[in-house]
Amino acid sequence: MKWIFEKILVFIVVVNAFAGFAQQNNLEVDLSKSVAKIQPTMYGIFFEDINFAADGGLYAEMIKNRSFEFTVNPLMGWIQPNSNRHSLNTNSGIATIIKYANSSGNHNYCRVKINNDKGYELINEGFRGMGIKKDATYNFYISALNKSGSIKNIIVQLIDKNKNVLGETKVAATSPVWKDYTAQLTAIKTEANAQIKITFEGTGEIDLDMVSLFPVDTWKGRKNGLRKDIVQLLYDLKPGFLRFPGGCIVEGRTLARRYQWKKTVGPVENREVLVNRWNTEFAHKLTPDYYQSFGLGFFEYFQLSEDLGAEPLPILSCGMACQFNSGELAPMEELDPYVQDALDLIEFANGSTDTPWGKVRNDMGHPKPFNLKYIGVGNEQWGADYIERYKVFAKAIKAKYPDMIIVSGSGPSPDGDYFQYGWEELKKLHADIIDEHYYKDPKWFLDNAARYDSYDRNGPKVFAGEYAAHPRGVKDGPQENNWQAALSEAAFMTGLERNADLVVMTSYAPLMAHIDAFQWAPDLIWFNNIDSYGTVNYQVQKMYSTNKGTDLLLITKEGKPLTGQEGLYASAVKDINKRELIIKLVNTKSSAQSVSIDLKGRKVKSKGTKTLLTSDNLVDVNSFESPNKISPVSSGFKLRGKKAILNLEPNSFTILKLSI
Ligand code: AHR
Repeated sequence: MKWIFEKILVFIVVVNAFAGFAQQNNLEVDLSKSVAKIQPTMYGIFFEDINFAADGGLYAEMIKNRSFEFTVNPLMGWIQPNSNRHSLNTNSGIATIIKYANSSGNHNYCRVKINNDKGYELINEGFRGMGIKKDATYNFYISALNKSGSIKNIIVQLIDKNKNVLGETKVAATSPVWKDYTAQLTAIKTEANAQIKITFEGTGEIDLDMVSLFPVDTWKGRKNGLRKDIVQLLYDLKPGFLRFPGGCIVEGRTLARRYQWKKTVGPVENREVLVNRWNTEFAHKLTPDYYQSFGLGFFEYFQLSEDLGAEPLPILSCGMACQFNSGELAPMEELDPYVQDALDLIEFANGSTDTPWGKVRNDMGHPKPFNLKYIGVGNEQWGADYIERYKVFAKAIKAKYPDMIIVSGSGPSPDGDYFQYGWEELKKLHADIIDEHYYKDPKWFLDNAARYDSYDRNGPKVFAGEYAAHPRGVKDGPQENNWQAALSEAAFMTGLERNADLVVMTSYAPLMAHIDAFQWAPDLIWFNNIDSYGTVNYQVQKMYSTNKGTDLLLITKEGKPLTGQEGLYASAVKDINKRELIIKLVNTKSSAQSVSIDLKGRKVKSKGTKTLLTSDNLVDVNSFESPNKISPVSSGFKLRGKKAILNLEPNSFTILKLSI
């Protein structure tokens, strides 16, 4: 009897094992054949001043409306708690705005009349507060003219919401002509919502301008530089390019409000402040205090590209305002200044220091060229008006700079009439690289992993310039950066990588958002005034960009690429410098799947590493509280003969790395 039971048990085990074997996915990688070179630009970043990404974000200035230039209310961001406009005599004091005569960049300054120096306070609220850190030092700067009276000192204090003083300094502002004063403050406490309070010793009238506060500890320690924690997150992505300054911000709601790079270089105090186009874009997310100081301007973008080891990719207005807004057009006969801006930008970036724009770069401290290779003409334009304008730009740029690679646009959708028309026309014009945008739900990303397999290999190259999976039915904001969205992007990106002969640049968008002042979600990075974290989508991007390899390999199942069969997606590359084989595998099923990969054509060392990104729940997110909740985990891996056998976790993204 026992004998029969044992036989039955063995039978069951064998049947199960066989069933398991039958379900196994047998893949094959050919290591001997490089299908295409992976461009160093394959994975890059898209920066736009949306969601307080520049002022209030990357640019570490802590004072909002530092030069009293906000157009609707030049005192926006400044509070005078003890000031009463209606009773000037009993009033402790009052600030009013004065215009400079004949000024082009910085139009206004602030005149403060102090009647009672024990009562008058001028407070700046920062960008939804100011994040200060215990023991950190801050550089204070102010330009002042002591007009009349007995004013001796300007007292500067960091305060919390109860007006407790968290740091203090003063400057002896006695000069009767404009003079710049600097001082330092050290914070005694960490406070995410600090403000700065300015008071005066003495009474009378004093004029103020360019009131500024920066942490000393910035990226690379640059004075008045960028927020270190945020740049570090960008740096860790090892991006192949940095696209700037957008996005729709390039175009402007009207042509007058387009991004004009020439107004963003030279001394910061001369850069003309402009209302941000996202300020009132969404009625349910109004940010009336959103302006562009351009402290982060084109020089700084080029410098950042250099710091990150990324190719700079500036995108310029082509004489068309945003077609979702006014759609205002620069008439063809008035296009010259726009084209000239593009030519001058190339000179600014690459020209010798004795050219007019090369000299501007030199005067800003960068005699060496920035080695610009790419330039974008227009952002998300569509229709015949765009093609007409693109032709003029392309002709002028190529005539003067034949090697410059031009990025053109295909509109806001990845399909439809405008998209088709744009592609057809640009193809006829032998455009270099066409930018495509897609903000779609996760299913679209899963369904489109084979999108580029059928693209014409003799036409323009592709820049997947703005994309992000937008999950449905989740709370707006950081909740949109959930594992479901990131997993679908990981799956889709195998398709980008598998088509690396055609797709030469890719970037998730938008890049970052201030948790208290965002207009658009999801975003790759979230920050507040103190902290920042990479979303799980960021982790996916990083896994790709730090494992991009140099050469594309074929990975197949039954001779076909994996584009969603059994919920599986895959791509493979090798890195000929590091002599590594890198296989990316995405399992979008809610059950584990077994995969056996036959490695052909080259010998591979039997020991390697497996890096896994997964989470139990598709709605899981990273957050300020748990910034690394979903992050990659690496472990050792061993081949079985010439085969890599993996059990892919449910809903997971795995990278297998082996030495060749
Ligand atoms: O990334 C946000 C916006 O989406 C960009 O500004 C624009 O190009 C696109 O419509």
